[in-house]
Amino acid sequence: MDIKTCRLAADAAGVADAAGLLTAGELVSFPTETVYGLGADARNNLAVAGIYAAKGRPSFNPLIVHLAGKQDAQSYVQWSDMAEILATAFWPGPLTLVLPLKVDHGLSSLVTAGLDTVALRVPAHPAAQALLGAFGGPVAAPSANPSGRISPTTADHVLAGLAGKIAAVLDDGPCQVGLESTIIGLGSNRPTVLRAGGLPQEAVAAALGQPLKQSGETGITSPGQMASHYAPGAAVRLNATTAQNDEVLLGFGQMQCDLNLSPSGDLVEAAANLFDHLHRLDAMARPIAVAPIPDHGLGRAINDRLCRAAAPR
Ligand code: TXA
Ligand code: MG
Repeated sequence: MDIKTCRLAADAAGVADAAGLLTAGELVSFPTETVYGLGADARNNLAVAGIYAAKGRPSFNPLIVHLAGKQDAQSYVQWSDMAEILATAFWPGPLTLVLPLKVDHGLSSLVTAGLDTVALRVPAHPAAQALLGAFGGPVAAPSANPSGRISPTTADHVLAGLAGKIAAVLDDGPCQVGLESTIIGLGSNRPTVLRAGGLPQEAVAAALGQPLKQSGETGITSPGQMASHYAPGAAVRLNATTAQNDEVLLGFGQMQCDLNLSPSGDLVEAAANLFDHLHRLDAMARPIAVAPIPDHGLGRAINDRLCRAAAPR
């Protein structure tokens, strides 16, 4: 049965309403600097189950827990020197750390999908910070899109996918980074990139003073690395220089195309535009061709998302 979904302004009253809804076990979408998240109280099993239901998400996919600050992390996980270095350097920001759970962590087992680790993140977005502060607890939040669809970077994207299924969306305009957080696993002996994202992994390696393992090297895969994740409805063809037949062309750098991720070839601008442009092209219901994107810095995360969007399904 559909419920009424409120659009709340990201002012003091809206934030207080959103925090009250979370306390009541309701689902609230909120902006982060990466993408909009779909939040629930991470200690409340029923509320967390609601996230999986609203998204239609496969139940083996664990969720990221959002915290107001790094001091909160130590209630849930076994903290380490590497965690301290990365949290000091990059929190608040687009970095998620996967760490071993503490005994008596108090988080819903649905959040961790039964794993003995949990993914933690401290978002920098002022509205996310205000909400986490007002709520005063851990907020489980995947991206606020139906499972397998493009991640939302505006409140309109959230409502297009989830209106009628969630209590509210806290609307504070478009997200700046536009790509999900970079996920680093710190459980094993060498830090591992579990998902390329909004923080270039070169910066993480530099802060730690050592190279990072790629998840492929270890056989560990973040469950969210399913190939057809992030898929638009239409077929996607990569490394295209021109559109063929009925295709619409998503460009990068100086070129003839229907939409351009960054006419000046700026990877940060391209990341910020990626999901919005995919949403717009998807709405045209024609196959999508995508220009080649350089595979360094944020280009790696962009290519990771594009490969998933193009995967056979
Ligand atoms: O930027 C972001 O990270 C956004 C915003 C809302 O914070 N959130 C986000 O969440 O992208 P989601 O649920 O769409 O992606 C979470 C990823 C999934 O790939 C999941 O498998 C992985 O994190 N993950 C969560 N817990 C994990 C764990 N314990 N071990 C390995 N991977 C984990
Ligand atoms: Mg997602």
